[in-house]
Amino acid sequence: MKYALIGCGRVSPHHLKAAKANGLEIVAFCDCSSENIDDMLRRASLTEEFGTLPRYADWNTLLHTEKPDMVSIALPSGLHAAAALDCIASGVHTLIEKPIAMSVQDAEKIIAAAENHNVTVGVCHQNRFNIAVQEMRKAIDAGWLGQLSHGAVTVRWSRGKGYYDQADWRGKWASDGGTLMNQCIHGIDLLRWMLGGELVEVFGFTERRQHPYIEAEDVGVAVLKFANGAVATLEGTVNCTDIDLEEHLSVFGETGMIKLGGTSANTVEVWQMPHAESDLSGLIEKTDNVYGNGHTSLFKDFAAAVREGREPYVTAKAGRDALETVLAVYKSAAEGKPVRLPLTECSSADFTGRFDV
Ligand SMILES: NC(=O)c1ccc[n+]([C@@H]2O[C@H](COP(=O)([O-])OP(=O)(O)OC[C@H]3O[C@@H](n4cnc5c(N)ncnc54)[C@H](O)[C@@H]3O)[C@@H](O)[C@H]2O)c1
Repeated sequence: MKYALIGCGRVSPHHLKAAKANGLEIVAFCDCSSENIDDMLRRASLTEEFGTLPRYADWNTLLHTEKPDMVSIALPSGLHAAAALDCIASGVHTLIEKPIAMSVQDAEKIIAAAENHNVTVGVCHQNRFNIAVQEMRKAIDAGWLGQLSHGAVTVRWSRGKGYYDQADWRGKWASDGGTLMNQCIHGIDLLRWMLGGELVEVFGFTERRQHPYIEAEDVGVAVLKFANGAVATLEGTVNCTDIDLEEHLSVFGETGMIKLGGTSANTVEVWQMPHAESDLSGLIEKTDNVYGNGHTSLFKDFAAAVREGREPYVTAKAGRDALETVLAVYKSAAEGKPVRLPLTECSSADFTGRFDV
């Protein structure tokens, strides 16, 4: 399968290595900065192997010239929808970094376009492939927790001025959003996926407390109510001093509870279910960074989904739902009242200027 990578910045070495590990035929790169492509290759230690591949500054030229079967998009978040719609319109199977888009409307357009052009579209919520997360999912599916009562996610990470200075799109409402949209959306995806998917109501607070040089929030908290009656809390921030402290996810049911921890829900801290086949307490999946190891499994599943003509494990709908959850918190926080879901129209850009008063 001919594969091209669109967007060769900070996260891109994970895409390149995942594509190589899964035997994709890597044919070209797209980035408006050739220097960034060099940098990516260096960081992935793949300069020798792929340094001479064609490079494009514009994704449409790449699509028309190289005719890849599959692309992954790792552009700034505000460009995901435009690039994805172009790729899909060219009949290319498209894996999009999170968030899928910056508005519910664009996410819906992507879902509709994928169906119209009969291409596979997935989203990089790679933490779904964490071993601990997979075990939690299996426990819920096996019924070991019984009826779910409630859950919680906390993402307590650290990002300083140096991080936001790396690129102009970071921390801006239209191109990135705040910490809930960028850092916390993986945990939010997991919480929604584990507790039942369909949300009916969200109430949240967001604030910009310690990063006056960004537009959007650096801390957010919310309560969520699901259609099945379960409730949940979320707390996300980049205001920890110096270190990524933790990403924890808990789920409580009538016959047990599970708490995942570590820096990105990659360990099992509590595994208490009398019906469980084995005790996984203390399970640790080692990771080099908070992105985890999931990109390789995600690419493997996506490529298999294309070959088999089935839905990928992380669908565009899943990406839309994670995005919708974040936007619901933004909307609730801006309006000072609970928000009913589903949202049909809401964009991160709607909140431009929110903390400038
Ligand atoms: N899944 C994860 O765990 C994870 C981790 C980090 C980032 N991300 C997501 O990946 C995306 C990229 O993040 P990043 O940290 O790598 O950003 P980055 O700024 O480091 O990289 C973006 C790249 O896109 C290029 N670019 C910008 N505009 C372009 C254009 N018009 N045409 C072609 N190239 C263009 C830039 O030159 C840069 O190399 C974001 O959406 C982010 O949310 C996901």
